[in-house]
Amino acid sequence: MSNREKINEKKLPVHIAIIMDGNGRWAKQKGMARIIGHQNGVDAVRDTVEASAELGIKFLTLYAFSTENWNRPRYEIDALMELLVSALKKELKTMTDNNIRLLAVGDLKSLPDKCNRELNEVMELTKQNTRMSLVLALSYSSRWEITEAARKVSEDVRTGKISPDKLDENMFRSYFSSSHIPDPELLIRTSGEHRISNFLLWQIAYAELYFTPKLWPDFRREDLYEAIVDYQNRERRFGKVSEQIIS
Ligand code: IPE
Ligand code: IPE
Ligand code: MG
Repeated sequence: MSNREKINEKKLPVHIAIIMDGNGRWAKQKGMARIIGHQNGVDAVRDTVEASAELGIKFLTLYAFSTENWNRPRYEIDALMELLVSALKKELKTMTDNNIRLLAVGDLKSLPDKCNRELNEVMELTKQNTRMSLVLALSYSSRWEITEAARKVSEDVRTGKISPDKLDENMFRSYFSSSHIPDPELLIRTSGEHRISNFLLWQIAYAELYFTPKLWPDFRREDLYEAIVDYQNRERRFGKVSEQIIS
C-alpha cells in the first residue's frame, strides 16, 4: 500500500506548516551556487501546494524568509527577493487553477516595494478562492510576531480599549498577524535540522513535529504523504492520559 493510500482522509490535519530548509546544501552538493538551490525549491513548493490542495488540507504555511535571513549576504537576499517576485508571477496560474487563496504573514513592509506589490496583487486576485489557503511567512519570526502583539495590546490598554484583566490567551492571539489562521497540527522541517528557527512558537504549542533529512528541493508529494501518515499514527493527548482519548 502506498503512503497516499494509507492516508485517512477523515483525519487530515487542517493546517500543515513547513520549514523549507536545505536549498543551499542541495546546490553545494551539486557544485552549484546557492541560488540554484532556491530556484529548484520552487518546484518542491508547487508539488507540495498542489498535493495539499488535492488532499483537502485547508491551510498550508510555508516559511520562506525569516527575520534572521536578512543577515545573509546582500546578493543572496536580492536573489531571493527576485525569485519571490518571479515565482509569484509564475505560480498565479497554479493558484487560480487549484482554487487557492494566497495569504502572507510577517513584517511585509520590510520587503522591497516590488515584492510587496506582486504579493498584494496575487493576494487580491486569489482572495475569493476557497479550496485552500497558502500562507507565505515572509520576513517572519515568531518573536517579532509576539512582540508586535504585545505592543498593540499595550497600546489598547493605554487608550482604554481593553482592560488588562480581560486579557486571556484568545484575546492575545487575536493580535497576531496570523490570528485568522488556525494552529498547525503538523509541522514539517526538511534538511535534517532539528530546530524551529523562530517559526510559529506560540502556534506550535501542541503541533506534531516531523523532521526529514530530505533537502527542500528534493521534497515531493510522496514525502508529504509520508509525513501525514506518520502524523496520523500518533496519539495526540493534549495533556490527558491515553484512556481519555476517544479516537
Ligand atoms: C532554506 O534553505 C531557504 C531559506 C532559508 C530562504 P537554506 O538557504 O537555508 O539552505 P541551507 O540550510 O543553507 O542548506
Ligand atoms: C529557517 O531556515 C528559515 C526558513 C526556512 C525560511 P534557516 O536556514 O534560516 O534556519 P537556521 O539558520 O538553520 O536555523
Ligand atoms: Mg537553512
